[in-house]
Amino acid sequence: MAPSKRGQPGLTRAVLANPDVRGVVLAFAAITAAEWVLGAAVAIYAFGAGGTNAVGLVGVRFAVAAVAGLWSGGLAERHSRTAILTATAAARTVAYVVIAAALAAGAPLAVVVALVWLDAAVGSAYRPAQAALLPSLVDSPGELTAASALTSNAKTSGQVLGALGGGTLAALVSVQGAVAIAAALGLLACAAGTRARQRRRRDRAAGQGRAAQLRGAVAGIAALGRDAEAARIVRFALLRSLVRGLWVALAVVASIRLLGLGRAGFGILMAAAGTGAILAIPGTALLVGRGALTRWFTFGLLLCGVPIAVAGVSGTAGAIAAMVAWGVGLSLSDVTAQALLNRVVSGREIGRVTGAMESGKLLFEGLGSVLAPLLTASLSVRGALLATGGVLPLALALEHRRLGGIDARAGDRVALLELVRGTATFGALRVDALEGVVSGLRALSVSAGSDVIRQGEEGHEWYAVAGGELDVLVDGFTINTLGPGDGFGELALLRAVPRSATVRARTDVSLMALERDAFLTALLGAEAIGQAPFAVPHDLEPEAALRHVALFRACDAGALAALAEEGVVSAAEEDETLTTAGEHDDRLVVLLTGRARVLVDGAFRRELLPGDAFGEIAVLHGVARTATVVASEPCRLLALPGDAVRAAVAPAAGRAS
Ligand code: CMP
Repeated sequence: MAPSKRGQPGLTRAVLANPDVRGVVLAFAAITAAEWVLGAAVAIYAFGAGGTNAVGLVGVRFAVAAVAGLWSGGLAERHSRTAILTATAAARTVAYVVIAAALAAGAPLAVVVALVWLDAAVGSAYRPAQAALLPSLVDSPGELTAASALTSNAKTSGQVLGALGGGTLAALVSVQGAVAIAAALGLLACAAGTRARQRRRRDRAAGQGRAAQLRGAVAGIAALGRDAEAARIVRFALLRSLVRGLWVALAVVASIRLLGLGRAGFGILMAAAGTGAILAIPGTALLVGRGALTRWFTFGLLLCGVPIAVAGVSGTAGAIAAMVAWGVGLSLSDVTAQALLNRVVSGREIGRVTGAMESGKLLFEGLGSVLAPLLTASLSVRGALLATGGVLPLALALEHRRLGGIDARAGDRVALLELVRGTATFGALRVDALEGVVSGLRALSVSAGSDVIRQGEEGHEWYAVAGGELDVLVDGFTINTLGPGDGFGELALLRAVPRSATVRARTDVSLMALERDAFLTALLGAEAIGQAPFAVPHDLEPEAALRHVALFRACDAGALAALAEEGVVSAAEEDETLTTAGEHDDRLVVLLTGRARVLVDGAFRRELLPGDAFGEIAVLHGVARTATVVASEPCRLLALPGDAVRAAVAPAAGRAS
């Protein structure tokens, strides 16, 4: 139940070693930087052409993206996510080339602004597709958290460095020169995304079954309506965007009118913020994966507000220093918001919820840039900065207490993900499917002495042991003991056969139960339901066969290889008797190929398939064979000496006692 033993730096290294994740992160950094080079350069151009109101109009691009996002957020559910990423980056690159040409040709302000809005609309498809793709590229919940932290960092740095580059280039070279650089960054994003395209088939298949669902962002809003805590995280993220929209629009005006920094001032302020954002990245990487994240979220949000008010009263040097702190706040609040959302929202809904949040953030950022001219008109530039800086501290003062509940709930989910991932059945599952398993779990308490499963009955559920000990009994003989972190009950579900053993609580036990359909969906996909029997291998090599034997579940790969070495492989004809009730035979036999039937007093008890074993009762309890086994078709068998079997299972038995 302990969280992943690998620390966050190890997880970050693991995801950075994954070329697909690297490509996604680099492409995202490049496309975000391109967007902000464009935004900053065009804002400066607009201020010269039409003053504060024109800067506000450029900022409306965020609201345009939000509206477009209502439709484009659903694309990720119907099409290949990697194809959406590449197509979006390519379309934006073309838009930048056209905008640079329009600027060079002296096109009217309205045409340039319309093209900027069009680019923003196209860009709205990017983030939801990326959020839906990431879980399919990583292997564990910890890696997903690390990967989403990396994309958040890429976004924050891309935004601030893009604004710096765009502002500086527009002041020192030309506005169209800056936009040409945006086009080059767009090309880089296309190139970085091509690698991930190789997974197209797999991730398209993952999205197909959900085509009938409500469109992305709308469904995301509905999901938020059901979840007060996720909604609270999103509300703060929206306010943060409102404040940022206000500040980015005000910064152009403030640097010229209040701080005496001229046209290059916007770039200087954003450079300071960029330094802060980048300084914060190693620190935020250490935070992810910890239980108590909301206090860091709160701190980050405060830093997104207070420094803006400070910039309004502190003079040039103080404003630049305050912007470093503002950059730290941007990184910190962005990473913690995404990490908290990943923890409280289920894997099935995270893509849509992220889509809704991103659309909302854009809407609020656009709203901020529209409000900026109104604020400066009614309050003066300084008054506008003080009011903008006060929004987040005020909201936090009102809602601060309610944020605490998020930490408690996030902790629960991490523990469940780790429990499920620790079981032999689900250990290799991708993290998006794991999220589905956790969403379907039902907590169950069983008192000592009660049976959870009875041998011979029909199976409906799979179980993971959260606490306590259970005995596994075959024909009344205890053949194994299960404890925290073990799973059981998969055989009847996978093969549509009766329960192979009784599982009885030895102590009071707490279990997490998963219904058959959810179990099969997680393991085999929704189309597998109703098509039993599954997972019956035709032909197994000795070592692979041992991996199927429930008795050896606790053995590692080395122990299984050693055990396989000790085995003797033989063949049997159809109808040949493999073992006879009443005989003494100290060997465990594993079926490699074929089928056999277990008979007690001549009556059929159960069928054995490749990967099934018989003889465990005699080997573990030193009694005579309790049943007769007859080959139903030609078989290959692996016979293991009793001593080797007892030595292999001894550590597990010792752990239970
Ligand atoms: P199932 O047959 O569905 O129901 C009983 C479960 O007990 C079975 O799935 C396995 O998960 C588990 N089980 C059976 N035999 C053993 C064993 N020898 N060791 C551990 N678990 C077992």
